Amino acid sequence: MILMCIYLLRFSARAIFRCSPSSDFGLFAVRSELYLSPIASVTMAENGSGNDDAKHQNTSNLEIVNNESSIDELSREVQETLSLSQRHKFWETQPVGQFKDLHDANLPEGPIEPPTPISEVKQEPYNLPNLYEWVTCDMNSEDTCAEVYNLLSNNYVEDDENMFRFNYSKEFLRWALHPPGYYKTWHIGVRVKSSKKLVAFITGIPARMRVRSEIVSMAEVNFLCVHKKLRSKRLAPVMIKEVTRRVHLENIWQAAYTAGVVLPTPITSCQYWHRSLNPKKLIDVGFSRLGPRMTMSRTLKLYKLPDSPVTPGFRKMELRDVPAVTRLLRAYLLQFAVAPDLDELDVEHWILPKEDVVDSFVVESPESHEITDFCSFYTLPSSILGHPTHSILKAAYSYYIVATKTPLVQLMNDALIAAKQKDFDVFNALDVMHNETFLKELKYGPGDGKLHYYLYNYRIKNILRPWELGLVLL
Ligand SMILES: CC(C)(COP(=O)(O)OP(=O)(O)OC[C@H]1O[C@@H](n2cnc3c(N)ncnc32)[C@H](O)[C@@H]1OP(=O)(O)O)[C@@H](O)C(=O)NCCC(=O)NCCS
Repeated sequence: MILMCIYLLRFSARAIFRCSPSSDFGLFAVRSELYLSPIASVTMAENGSGNDDAKHQNTSNLEIVNNESSIDELSREVQETLSLSQRHKFWETQPVGQFKDLHDANLPEGPIEPPTPISEVKQEPYNLPNLYEWVTCDMNSEDTCAEVYNLLSNNYVEDDENMFRFNYSKEFLRWALHPPGYYKTWHIGVRVKSSKKLVAFITGIPARMRVRSEIVSMAEVNFLCVHKKLRSKRLAPVMIKEVTRRVHLENIWQAAYTAGVVLPTPITSCQYWHRSLNPKKLIDVGFSRLGPRMTMSRTLKLYKLPDSPVTPGFRKMELRDVPAVTRLLRAYLLQFAVAPDLDELDVEHWILPKEDVVDSFVVESPESHEITDFCSFYTLPSSILGHPTHSILKAAYSYYIVATKTPLVQLMNDALIAAKQKDFDVFNALDVMHNETFLKELKYGPGDGKLHYYLYNYRIKNILRPWELGLVLL
């Protein structure tokens, strides 16, 4: 019913955006400092990749589950992919599930390739074309953090129609990149040698991931970004290989990542849902539009929320709640096929509220003072491109939620109210974990794109349904 009232547009990929890696290519004059000649591009594509690309055998045993519409869609995309030879020139050389192996039930679950001795890991960085150099980005440095922020805020993920672009704040980037045990060397930039301009970025952070019953040390790879003027020159594969090399040097051999594009081969494909908090603004900026039989006043009424949360004992999470929240979260995440293995230090870092970065609330029983439930969301604004009056869309993203006593719908309604109190325009949620059970009831509308989850060098036998996944990557 709700979805007939307001249409939500262009919500895809890594949230509201479809990753469109080369959509801007060709629209800009190429400035000389950024220019990669065709020769340079060839050099990059071939650089150091000969051995590595060739030696990996394509192995995967992911099966399509046909009664799932998202999986059907993925299957169609896979078929399209198969019909185009050499579609994934790079990814076909990597130890990831390959499309051709989707129906091979004989391939085992687990690492695709065994680890090699660290001494055999390439010790020097991959070559870049002469004009460029690798840098390790110290995100504690104000200047470097500002450079990364500027690169991403001007060049990171946009929607297909280039109306919105992610605008991760500096505080958010520091938080996302500095979990317990992080490696500075995994925060990798590429600069123009002469001007020192930062033109590309990729990161990894360490994480313990549980895949079914195995705890696996992994890197979570994120923030892959190449300056718009350097797109489609095969720089991304070099960035990916370099972060992989640095991850291997720490004796870690698996990774988890997400993308809006279909690559070989998703472990699951999720959908974003969007709950309007400020419908007028969302309509004004073209994020959503008024349904055919709806007026603005009816729409405002439809999405109106109470002024404050209704659950007794609902309050902001504090440091003293870390042990209880960790216990709740660990017990909850056990039911999912793939989920992070979080201890108290992780929870303190990832869940404890941080102004304008992550918000978390617990329900403390007024009688027993036991912590029975918690919910959290993170702050990821988007720039609104070329709008005369609005420049920022303030979006909350559902993060980890555990309800043991409070009904999930009520808990998440309180989260919406808390987000509205903080002036968010929209609340986004993936259909992972148990989220599907509250989305429709709380008037979320489905987005139009997918977020695909991937594991590097780890095969799982069957494609998961989104609700079998217990992982949210930022
Ligand atoms: C993603 C991005 C770095 C890719 O760079 P590009 O210049 O378009 O592509 P390149 O020519 O360097 O490399 C192409 C290869 O990278 C792969 N690739 C593209 N996007 C990718 C992604 N998000 N993750 C992993 N690999 C990706 C392509 O599939 C292709 O490999 P293939 O031939 O095996 O299929 C660039 O488009 C970008 O910065 N986009 C905006 C930010 C963004 O979308 N980041 C990813 C977030 S999901």
